[in-house]
Amino acid sequence: MSVPSNGRERNTAAGIMVRQMTAHDIAGFSTLFCDVFASPPWNERWDSAAVAETIGRTMKNSGFIGFTSMKAKWPVGFITGFRLAPIPHLSSVLYIDQLFVDGRVQGAGIGRMLMNTLLRAASEHAYRGALLLTMPKSAAESLYRSAGFRRMLRPVLLRGKGIYYMRLNRERYE
Ligand SMILES: CC(C)(COP(=O)(O)OP(=O)(O)OC[C@H]1O[C@@H](n2cnc3c(N)ncnc32)[C@H](O)[C@@H]1OP(=O)(O)O)[C@@H](O)C(=O)NCCC(=O)NCCS
Repeated sequence: MSVPSNGRERNTAAGIMVRQMTAHDIAGFSTLFCDVFASPPWNERWDSAAVAETIGRTMKNSGFIGFTSMKAKWPVGFITGFRLAPIPHLSSVLYIDQLFVDGRVQGAGIGRMLMNTLLRAASEHAYRGALLLTMPKSAAESLYRSAGFRRMLRPVLLRGKGIYYMRLNRERYE
């Protein structure tokens, strides 16, 4: 652990490898998803089989891109996105569907590593922007802001939580 200038303790991302997600990762994705989102700030209960079914369907979407970060042979984080093809004007925008990191290794730079990898792949796939939803004042919001995302619409309430939309590279797809 080290303590950077912002005072937050950090693990280090040593030994983490990021690779493309495949159908073999679905079980690992759903187990980790349920675990991470059961913790604050989300405190949600998810059914692992339902999560597996949903991600399996998502992976069949046009333009799906997904990565997993591995520590030895264990998945410790995922990021996934797909094309918003059916929505006019947004067909060249990547919708970032999920990003989560194992609570035991959060704060080590893995989330940022996954985001950078996804955005690079999105550029290579000719996506011109990216869109996501998140919770205001969360660790995720801070990561997204520093990755270039900006608030896009006024806050909406989703299941009682303030969630809002952000987007990237506005000028590139207007
Ligand atoms: C959000 C999440 C993916 C970040 O992954 P991570 O590996 O912990 O984040 P990183 O170590 O790469 O940190 C990247 C940036 O995120 C922000 N961040 C990370 N942890 C933070 C914390 N505890 N408090 C405030 N900001 C934080 C910071 O901006 C940080 O940059 P910095 O280190 O230069 O200050 C992870 O915390 C997580 O899985 N959270 C629960 C699930 C979730 O909220 N997913 C997003 C749903 S929209």
